[in-house]
Amino acid sequence: MNEAMDELLSPLTKSRRAHSIAVGRRMERVAGVLPAELRDDAVAAAYLHDVGYGHSVLGFHPIDGARLLRSLNYSSVVCHLVAFHTAAEVEAEVRGLAAAVFDEFRLTGVPCLEVADDLLWWSDLSTGPNGEAFTVDERLSEILSRYEPGSIVHTAITRAEPRLRAAAQRASGSM
Ligand SMILES: [Fe+2]
Repeated sequence: MNEAMDELLSPLTKSRRAHSIAVGRRMERVAGVLPAELRDDAVAAAYLHDVGYGHSVLGFHPIDGARLLRSLNYSSVVCHLVAFHTAAEVEAEVRGLAAAVFDEFRLTGVPCLEVADDLLWWSDLSTGPNGEAFTVDERLSEILSRYEPGSIVHTAITRAEPRLRAAAQRASGSM
């Protein structure tokens, strides 16, 4: 992680910062399975995946983060990975946001981008809220216990669970 990233994470709560840094480190350990040209972007996206919590505009952190990073000239791959991280599309749907908010970050023709997506989802799902190493089961039950039943995040995670588990499983298979 460089100084610019550290600065971007500074408005986040202490625990979110610790979580973000641990997700970045986890990605650093596994990014070697990606084509060389994707590795730095995957690592940057992992460190910065939750940056939108500290730079809220729309109030939906994956898109707020991706837009912020685009304004700072991060690559379209980094912005894509952040926008779509950890079933963001499901949470957007629960929030009643139009699916079109993702359109500016859709990317085609980038080899192995879907593997990078899976690795980021897995890195996030295997890291606890303070940066602890968690199993996917521990992480999902931790999120569900942190948010009230009926809340947006609780509903979104419940609805996204099969997708989240499938991504984590594919990621584990690719390492
Ligand atoms: Fe997030």
